[in-house]
Order: sequence, then structure tokens, then C-alpha cells
Amino acid sequence: MADETQSQLRAYVEYFRDLGVYDFYRNGEPAEALVVLEAEAAVAVEPVVAAAPVVVEPVVAVAGGTVVAGKLVSFDDLALRPEVQVLVGDRAAALKAIQDEIGDCTRCPLAYAGRRKIVFGDGDPGARVMFVGEGPGADEDELGLPFVGKAGQLLNNMIQAMGLTREGVYIANIVKCRPPANRAPEPVEANTCTQFLVRQMDVVQPQVVVALGATAAMYLLGVKQSLASLRGVWHSCRGTKLAVTYHPAFLLRDPRMKGEAWKDLQMVMAEMGLKGPGK
Ligand code: URA
Repeated sequence: MADETQSQLRAYVEYFRDLGVYDFYRNGEPAEALVVLEAEAAVAVEPVVAAAPVVVEPVVAVAGGTVVAGKLVSFDDLALRPEVQVLVGDRAAALKAIQDEIGDCTRCPLAYAGRRKIVFGDGDPGARVMFVGEGPGADEDELGLPFVGKAGQLLNNMIQAMGLTREGVYIANIVKCRPPANRAPEPVEANTCTQFLVRQMDVVQPQVVVALGATAAMYLLGVKQSLASLRGVWHSCRGTKLAVTYHPAFLLRDPRMKGEAWKDLQMVMAEMGLKGPGK
């Protein structure tokens, strides 16, 4: 696409985003909305008129989640699970292929919201446990790696306390680009991005997934419930057991809750037969 056309489209995307219209992309394909935008750009129609046809199906952004045809969509409902497991030796290449497909992504408004680096995910492609956070912060955006700031240091300590190493686990986020001012991802941002996290999970196939915080839990499980009600029990996500615990950033703000988080991690350790460091 010529640079000029691209920047024109970018201006339209930002304009519609300001109007609260986000659904330019759906199911991995440019939605009709984008075609509408291109057509409108050609004939220079009053842009407010163009806003109406953008919502082409009943996808409604609501506070705290996206409703598609009346319900939040869990990772289990987002895509069929692959019939064949990727062999451990092929997982790094399979992850690289997903990363290449993401490329210099412009599929959602976060691409135009000051992102510096896309944070794909990091760790052992054959990891037994995968931690999923919310979205990159400033440090992650700068380095292109998940959980490398203060919350990341705490996560590293939690991982070590479990008797694991950071290199031995896999870490990713619901969205791969930093939301401005560290806000929670908008539903359309999460829904656009999670198609790739689903595939990362299907490649790594960890024994256990740990959802860090309410946002991760909500999108992974497709439920909007209090963190307290989701903790302490096993959930299922793409054929894998999933536990929910507090986000490390929350634990930094309220260290008294670290003991509660440790209970969650002990549940994970028991499931995985881990006894803690050096045991
Ligand atoms: N918080 C997150 O949710 N993810 C990161 O990668 C860093 C901070």
C-alpha cells in the first residue's frame, strides 16, 4: 500500500476510534468497514455519515468485555483446538511462524497509540507452565519482552519460589502492544490480538496456565467475575488446567495479598509436583 494511502487510512482509523468505533477487523480479515473507508476516502463523503455502516454485525463493546452474539467469548470458543500437537522440537519454529505472521501489526488501534515494540511472548516453547498477563507496560514496550519491569521482577520471584526458572516457563499477555497510559485493553483490542495467543497456547500446550489478574482471566475464560470468585479452583482453557491469581502489579500495590497469591501458586505446584526451590 502506498505510504500516502496508508497514512490516510491511519487518520481514518484514528478518527473513528475517537468516535468510539473500533471494529475495523474481524476474523483476521479487513472488515467491510475498511472497504467502506476506502470508498469514502475516494469520494470524500462527510465522514460522520460513514460511521453508521461500520458496525456490520452485532459485536458490542461493553464495559469489561466484548459481547459477540450476546456472550463473552472464551479462548475455548475462539477457535477449534488443533487435532495434532506440535512436537517439542518444532515448537520454537511454530512460534516464530506466528510471530512472523503478526509482523509489524496494524490490526487494531493500539498500533497507532504510541506502541514501540510488539511484545510477542517469551520463554521455553516446551514450558510446562504459561503465565498470561494483561498487556505490556512501558518497560516491556521498550524491550519487546513481557514482564521485564517492576511487576516482572516480582513475577520472577514468584516463579523462583515455585522452584522454576524464568527461562523454563512461557510468558505472554492478552494484548501484545502497550495500551496508552497502561489502561486495560479495550475489548476490540483484546479480541483482535487473542487469535495469536490462542495459537501460542496451542503450540506450547503447557500443563498449566496461570492467569495473572482479572483482565487475563476474563478474556481467557470468557467470564466477567470477581478475581476472588475465580481463585482457588481449577478452570479449563484449551485443554489445559488454568488457575487464576493476582496480577503482580496489584501485589506491588497491596503486598498483604502476596500470601493469597502464594496459596494460588501452591495449588499450581501441587498439580505439577513441584516442591519449591532446591527440593
Ligand atoms: N503487566 C502485564 O500485564 N504484562 C506485562 O508484560 C507487564 C506488566
